[in-house]
Amino acid sequence: MNNKYSAKFNIDYTKFKTTTSKRRRPSATRELTKISYSMPHNVISLAEGMPNEETFPITEITVKLTGGASFVLEGDELGAALQYIPSQGYPPLLQAMREYQKRVHNPPTWDNREIIVVSGSQDGLSKALEAIIAPGDPILVQDPVYPGVTIVLAPHQAEIIPVPQDKLGIVPDKLRQILEKRDIEGKKMPKLLYINATGANPTGSLMPTDRRRKIYQIACDYDFLILDDDPYHFMYFTQEEPTSFLTLDTEGRVIRLDSFSKVLSSGLRIGLVTAAAPLIASMELHIQSSHLHATTLSQVILYKCLKIWGYNGMMEHYRFIRSFYKERRDRMSEIATKYLKDLADFEKPEAGMFLWIKVRGIKDTWNMLMKRGIKHGILMTPGAAFLIDSSMSSNAIRASFSRINYEEMELAMKRLAKLIQDELSYENLLAIDNT
Ligand SMILES: Cc1ncc(COP(=O)(O)O)c(C=O)c1O
Repeated sequence: MNNKYSAKFNIDYTKFKTTTSKRRRPSATRELTKISYSMPHNVISLAEGMPNEETFPITEITVKLTGGASFVLEGDELGAALQYIPSQGYPPLLQAMREYQKRVHNPPTWDNREIIVVSGSQDGLSKALEAIIAPGDPILVQDPVYPGVTIVLAPHQAEIIPVPQDKLGIVPDKLRQILEKRDIEGKKMPKLLYINATGANPTGSLMPTDRRRKIYQIACDYDFLILDDDPYHFMYFTQEEPTSFLTLDTEGRVIRLDSFSKVLSSGLRIGLVTAAAPLIASMELHIQSSHLHATTLSQVILYKCLKIWGYNGMMEHYRFIRSFYKERRDRMSEIATKYLKDLADFEKPEAGMFLWIKVRGIKDTWNMLMKRGIKHGILMTPGAAFLIDSSMSSNAIRASFSRINYEEMELAMKRLAKLIQDELSYENLLAIDNT
């Protein structure tokens, strides 16, 4: 590893890493790919195992963008887009992303941080968790939670500590109480908090800045890292852009996950991890031993979009994304109110693409949706899918408003109302039978 990976924050990151992570070693061939990208042009390399691009059957790729711009990949640029690259990412994209992250988040210090390109934020999530969480390690997790977290943690038998949320996300006082209690009881203290503060999946809440500051302070007081999974950062429906944890990160405690799935394409599978350099180094070694690097073609497409649109053009595109989803959010909330106001409770989501509906009078929505939903012509996600202990019951439903048209929204909410009414009558019948 070169010098850029020496720790400069006042944190010893080795104490956060698992033994497995500390045992990882760089692959000589991968390191040579890295060297080949930065070596002087007069060096003749016979070192890497790169195939000859002239044998690749793809000769041109044309990409047309909304707004009229387009680009053609051909010749050397196409060759590079179809070739192996260093595990950290396509070097021109990495450079562009450093500038992009600085402009978007303006973190207190930049020199001590690094970026790695990953195959979507789920890849970053699993790499980050697997670098830090060893079998039995405690981890703080917002409850309810995106199931992509629990599926990574399950094989490691981590001790998942649920942190309750209200309509603004994780409650700082409750987080502090959990930590105080563990400390008094002499229990192992968590090394990490998983949070998804903007457009929390599944609840759609958006945490205000003062609450984020309190949570950051608790992380400093109890010496843990914050894994900020933020795929909906640019999909907020409030006036102000949310302040990310990276913006608040004076001590180097934040591992930030970015995703381009919701704003560019989910199939390109592109995300970023931004964190203190020693943590990124661990993830890079893991990627060297798994998929080598995120798809080069996707990285080149992202790079070209950023280059053609520029930073301002990208922000303009995000504005379009916001207005698109905001209109849908508004319609979905109106229609849900029309059909469900006497049957369920819900908050208008402040970001993201989900409505979190809590059904009155029904203990668990699992069987209702999974067994009888399709017969009623609807498919929605039962709340129990987002519980840390999925054997527990949940009266909630997650309904996505991202893709259906307004007619389908109307029909879906009408069908859901009927499904709930039938379920309530069925439960009443069961109760009478049991008396
Ligand atoms: C909170 C959260 N994290 C991560 C992901 C995965 O995103 P990606 O497509 O970037 O892997 C999602 C996708 O729905 C999500 O909602």
